[in-house]
Amino acid sequence: MADLIAPYPMAADSSSQDLDALVAEARARFAAAADGTALENEKARFLGKTGAITELLKGLGKLDPVVKKSEGARINVAKAAIEALLTARREALANAQLEAKLSAEAIDVTLPGRGLSTGGIHPVMRTWRRIEEIFRSIGFDVADGPEIETDWMSFTALNNPENHPARSMQDTFYVDINDAEGRPLNLRPHTSPMQVRYARMHAERMRAGTSGMTDIKVIAPGRTYRIDSDATHSPMFHQVEGLWLGENISFADLKGVYTAFLNAFFETDALSVRFRPSYFPFTEPSAEIDMRFETGPLAGRWLEISGSGQVHPSVVANFGLDPQRHIGFAFGSGIERLAMLRYGIDDLRLFYEGDLRFLEQFQ
Ligand code: PHE
Repeated sequence: MADLIAPYPMAADSSSQDLDALVAEARARFAAAADGTALENEKARFLGKTGAITELLKGLGKLDPVVKKSEGARINVAKAAIEALLTARREALANAQLEAKLSAEAIDVTLPGRGLSTGGIHPVMRTWRRIEEIFRSIGFDVADGPEIETDWMSFTALNNPENHPARSMQDTFYVDINDAEGRPLNLRPHTSPMQVRYARMHAERMRAGTSGMTDIKVIAPGRTYRIDSDATHSPMFHQVEGLWLGENISFADLKGVYTAFLNAFFETDALSVRFRPSYFPFTEPSAEIDMRFETGPLAGRWLEISGSGQVHPSVVANFGLDPQRHIGFAFGSGIERLAMLRYGIDDLRLFYEGDLRFLEQFQ
């Protein structure tokens, strides 16, 4: 509660000492007022309707005109002094309030910024994009296709016999839904069904053989799935399929194209490529492509990099084309494998753990 406002018991006979004391009192009380409300209460004590100065001025009426004039002047000087003190104190309080507000909201410009963390491209995606770029630059189309495949696309069309281990439950994830032939759908264990899908889509123009339209030249990167998990295998991984089919595309073309790709991908000519005989049902002959760096930390070691071969005549027939006329090569390479060799990573699982300490190194 504010103090009761007690008018000063000074009548019309205010001595100059009384007025000085009054001004001094106002100075002290204004200074002691801690905020605007307290100050306005103190003001009333001196300048309000019943304030000390007001009372003194009211008392002037009873005085004789000569005294009244000089007395009035003295009181007005005191009044002006008190008003000046009031204004000064108001300003001081307002400044203090602003000061307090500013320091409460102070911004320390020397603190480090919170920053916006920007996303980055995953090393597997970087590698995927890099592969696309290189193959586009040598005239390959890029195709995409389903990850849930029919039995025919993943196996039968690719000359995979009924009892081939690749079809087995140990290797392939099956979906609890049957395809039109009554066989369960699978999560494609390789990108090779894209050879079939793409070739069948382009078979008509291939058969028509319009000049300049006689080749299929495509890569199909994408996700693939196998029941497998260790330092070099993951149940989901990525492959890039390649297919170049024409009227005279040979193993020599495969060697030229794949070597050019490796030179571009690893940004070096200091590597050797060899084709080691192998077996795939959908190629004949078949080969594993091995490469060897001539310099760097892996120099001198042969590294297996891709499956490949000349497309098997039965597979060309399943494309809807005449194997007597159309011939070419296919390859299927692991994208993680290429990424691991490019970046010197020895455990494939690092790609899938989402550890920022690992991932940030590629940005
Ligand atoms: N599909 C084979 C695999 O996943 C790789 C391959 C593709 C081999 C094309 C030859 C031709 O192992």
